[in-house]
Amino acid sequence: MTDVAVAGGGLVGMAVAWRSALRGLSVTVVDDAPGTGASAAAAGMLAPVTEAGYREEALLGLGTASLQRWPAFAAELEAASGRTVGLRTAGTLVVGFDEDDVRELDALHAFQRELGLAVERLTPREARRREPALATRVRGGLLVLGDHSVDGRAVHAALLAAAETAGVAVVRGRVADVAVAGGRARGLRLEDGTTVPGDRVVLALGAHSGGLPSVPPLPVRPVKGQILRLAGAGGLLEGTVRALVRGRHVYLVPYGADRLVVGATVEDRGFDARVTAGGVHDLLHDAIEVVPEVEELELAETLARWRPGTPDNAPLLGPSRLPGLVLATGHHRNGVLLTPVTAEAIAELLATGALPEVAASFTADRFAVGSSGEVRGCR
Ligand code: GLY
Repeated sequence: MTDVAVAGGGLVGMAVAWRSALRGLSVTVVDDAPGTGASAAAAGMLAPVTEAGYREEALLGLGTASLQRWPAFAAELEAASGRTVGLRTAGTLVVGFDEDDVRELDALHAFQRELGLAVERLTPREARRREPALATRVRGGLLVLGDHSVDGRAVHAALLAAAETAGVAVVRGRVADVAVAGGRARGLRLEDGTTVPGDRVVLALGAHSGGLPSVPPLPVRPVKGQILRLAGAGGLLEGTVRALVRGRHVYLVPYGADRLVVGATVEDRGFDARVTAGGVHDLLHDAIEVVPEVEELELAETLARWRPGTPDNAPLLGPSRLPGLVLATGHHRNGVLLTPVTAEAIAELLATGALPEVAASFTADRFAVGSSGEVRGCR
């Protein structure tokens, strides 16, 4: 029997599969279209500091631990796959557009300083010296030299190649359920009626992780994000620019030779896949306010996908209430950032039976979940 069956071939599922195979385990991944879910939409920010929210110190710690792993992870992945993954280490600038936006940035800066984070307050002139394409109306900013980015789609392509080289099998099919025998997970049942056996099963289905009949209720919900890709942006930005534009958040992430990701809406609308006129309008409007030359770029792609949201915005990692079923899901806004630490922790659990300390506070039992799936609160 295969040691591990992984449900979901996105960034997290493929990375878990790759690292587990390198630990000597036999691994099969099941996905009908690997890398076309949230992984295809992700902007690729590696940004624990600029993503940190109030009362999210534990998540910040996990994100920082994963960011530290990114350079070695990227180098090993590039060597194993023969592909580049576009790791950019130019840092992140956060700017405010009007007085209220700058007041919010000041509050954020105070919070970041309380946590001892490396963040520098910039005047408008200093912000524009760093990113000359910024609008002259930008009122000031914060520079986070440690927040980086990567080309998420390139990472996924590299993971597929590296995993295949390491012996991972990828079965193209839709997961219908976890196969349960003798009270424990024993593989995956597919929609076509076949079963992929596995001594252990990893659930890495992102926003879809909550819907399998045999899986105990999980507090994972879809959080819709609409995101745009623009072409012709070569040399426009040095690094990631995040902005508050009259209270709305937008980010611009350069990648490849001339590409720019502009994102993203945050919508609690279930699995609504529509790209809306309003969503595209708001993102483009705000991006152009901050970087006027965006107006001249080609709108190359629009996309809507779902982040796997959890009540505390942090992932679910490790054992579940179903013996044999391991969770690697709920990464919400931080799937790309958290890929290395997730893969390392889950591969360690699968290989040795012990979840490493770095992931210990992210097990699903931090939530009390009722039989119908309602979350009764953090334990
Ligand atoms: N990590 C950015 C987003 O989820 O939109």
